[in-house]
Amino acid sequence: MNRVVCKIMKLAPTVKLNNGREMPILGLGTYASQNKEGEIAIKHAIDIGYRHLDTAFFYQNEAEVGQSIRDKIAEGVVKREDIFLTTKLWNIYHDPERVEGACRKQLANLGLDYIDLYLMHMPVGYKYINEETLLPKDEDGALLLSDVDYVDTYKAMEQLVKSGLVRSLGVSNFNSEQLKRVLDNCEIKPVTNQVECSPAINQKKLIEFCKKHDVTLTAYTPLGRPRPEEQKPDYVYSDKVKAIAEKYNKTTTQVALRYLIDSGAIPIPKSSNPKRISENFDLFDFSLTDEEKAVLDSFNTGERMVPLNLIKARNHKYFPFAIEF
Ligand SMILES: NC(=O)c1ccc[n+]([C@@H]2O[C@H](COP(=O)([O-])OP(=O)(O)OC[C@H]3O[C@@H](n4cnc5c(N)ncnc54)[C@H](OP(=O)(O)O)[C@@H]3O)[C@@H](O)[C@H]2O)c1
Repeated sequence: MNRVVCKIMKLAPTVKLNNGREMPILGLGTYASQNKEGEIAIKHAIDIGYRHLDTAFFYQNEAEVGQSIRDKIAEGVVKREDIFLTTKLWNIYHDPERVEGACRKQLANLGLDYIDLYLMHMPVGYKYINEETLLPKDEDGALLLSDVDYVDTYKAMEQLVKSGLVRSLGVSNFNSEQLKRVLDNCEIKPVTNQVECSPAINQKKLIEFCKKHDVTLTAYTPLGRPRPEEQKPDYVYSDKVKAIAEKYNKTTTQVALRYLIDSGAIPIPKSSNPKRISENFDLFDFSLTDEEKAVLDSFNTGERMVPLNLIKARNHKYFPFAIEF
């Protein structure tokens, strides 16, 4: 793709964050986007207009994500400042002493000078054993957790903004009480809470809570990881949603993503398939009526694809999903 085409390319709208920076309201998820397939996918996404990319230390693909961005900069398709890159501090690094080292290691993986948005991946820390053990477990397979207070971890993350390694901070998988505790104790406000959010768990109350505090809500697993063989999740295969999709000449997954945007969330659908990557970005020429949104509302069962059961099993005091939102 040449420079001229990029200039007239339609990008996603952006939202102004509480620190004045702008974040595109649609991003590319990259969980399980690895190796060459991942690089091809991410480069295609940048070519067609994605500017917001979501990765994490845990996904073990920061090298591919960073390489794709650097290649696209070298080709002249984008400049570094055009890209909004999110990555996350993994749970084994919650000890404040480990935060800066973890972030520097991630920057080295990415081959970049700064991270646009650095999230605490979860409020619960895991026991640090070594760099390779991302899911520390005992001999019975139970997860080994730590008691580090996420507020202390967050304070260490604030130093990364001060030293210029990171532009914005955020949290992920935090409930409203945990987010409030961070807001009450921080110097640098989190700009987003990244949580599971799809028509099956539409997070209306958490979105409202976040809005009140000028924090955005980023929607992970926004499509519920479609499984055609099981015809799940329901909203992707429902005749009612198919009828809405037909009206706009869209697919049911596009209707689901538009519904999340119309609800005030920022979806980050993952795909490694160029056709679906393009499809998931083609959302900005229609919006749903109130009646159509009500149809989507009817799929809100609250059921999660990512229930963090291993943490729940340990009855940890910071397990985030024990309260309503
Ligand atoms: N903060 C957290 O704790 C957390 C947790 C989970 C996820 N995330 C982030 O959120 C991103 C998205 O979540 P997710 O990957 O769990 O789930 P998702 O985006 O709901 O679903 C991804 C799956 O859907 C398929 N897919 C994508 N677009 C499709 C379409 N238009 N039609 C049919 N199938 C489609 C993909 O397959 P193909 O690749 O073959 O297209 C992939 O298998 C992740 O990649 C990650 O960046 C964050």
